Amino acid sequence: NYYAILMAGGIGTRFWPVSTKEFPKQFHDMLGTGETLIQRTFHRLSKIVPKEHIFILTNESYSDLVCEQLPEIKKCQLVLEPAMRNTAPCILYASLKIQKENPDALMVVAPSDHWIENEQAFVKNVQQAFNFCSGNDVLMTLGIHPTFPNTGYGYIEYDKGGKETIKFVNQFREKPDYKTAKSFIDKGNFLWNAGIFMWSVTSIIKAFQDNQPQLYALFESGIEVYNTDRETEFVNENYEKSENISIDYAVMEKSDNVYVITAEFDWNDLGTWGSLYDKLPKDGHNNAILNARTLAENAEGNIIRTNKDKLVVVDGLNDYIIVDKDDVLLIYPKNKEQDIKQILQRVKKKY
Ligand code: GDD
Ligand code: MG
Repeated sequence: NYYAILMAGGIGTRFWPVSTKEFPKQFHDMLGTGETLIQRTFHRLSKIVPKEHIFILTNESYSDLVCEQLPEIKKCQLVLEPAMRNTAPCILYASLKIQKENPDALMVVAPSDHWIENEQAFVKNVQQAFNFCSGNDVLMTLGIHPTFPNTGYGYIEYDKGGKETIKFVNQFREKPDYKTAKSFIDKGNFLWNAGIFMWSVTSIIKAFQDNQPQLYALFESGIEVYNTDRETEFVNENYEKSENISIDYAVMEKSDNVYVITAEFDWNDLGTWGSLYDKLPKDGHNNAILNARTLAENAEGNIIRTNKDKLVVVDGLNDYIIVDKDDVLLIYPKNKEQDIKQILQRVKKKY
């Protein structure tokens, strides 16, 4: 009864110029391991869920990329979205399809672009969650010990009482402002949301019914056609009518049956060049180098990536992102990595 949905519809703008709307980061080998992020995630999930039960949720424009990179999947495992509406609509749509196939399904929902160190621990934690979800009407998430008031994550306040591995969640807060995030960290009983969820198909659909009745009504009206030839027609006509909302705001913040399991594996959401830098091997001067030969003198803490094994000579530059990609060369301070999103907008206007 195990199923997985792998979300692969994001654009990863902060990884520009490597990640673009046409070719987002999940389809790149960001870590230099020989596998793209989506391939790594697929293989990780296949240690828990049979391959033919892993559904890939993505925008229809990435359908060829997915088929190329995951040749083992069948067409019916691809859930294609004709419009970008964030994670709630696609999770509901996929869940209704899965429910039609197997009403007893237990599902893990995972982003396609994270770094997870200890796969065995990951498998163990998801397995523990599955055991808890089977027979309980609960929504489960994996929690990470927070290290600083990152405002890009969801925060989970767990119930202090009880020593069980699985804890009741008092409050789920998506992307709080800095002051709030800091107060959460000071309180101690907060975890970051890893964005990996587990639940039974019954529980997640019930949660949508209760908390997002409009969204539910929209997708439920197509229930008859799911998993048939007429499905695409229905989706093309209706998908764009859904609200643009993430699962975190749509369901997790609003539900009162949320439980968390603290992750026993190292996790990084590979959201920015800096977080990627942290995970890459370094040369003697703390430079992380991907697909490049470098001569780095008086240069430390840089991340250097080319796409053709180019020779890069650097002198007197520290803590920079140096990315060479066909027609774009980015040389940008690491401490301004969050601004790359805005830079991209300005670049687009000008060029
Ligand atoms: N199929 C599909 N369609 N996938 C999508 C879409 C969409 O419209 N939008 C985003 N995704 C995918 C992304 O590719 C990514 O793998 C995942 O869904 C999560 O989306 P993000 O946009 O990266 O979310 P986030 O990082 O802002 O926040 C989420 O992750 C954090 C941890 O990394 C939340 O769950 C936070 O609470 C969490 O802390
Ligand atoms: Mg993310």
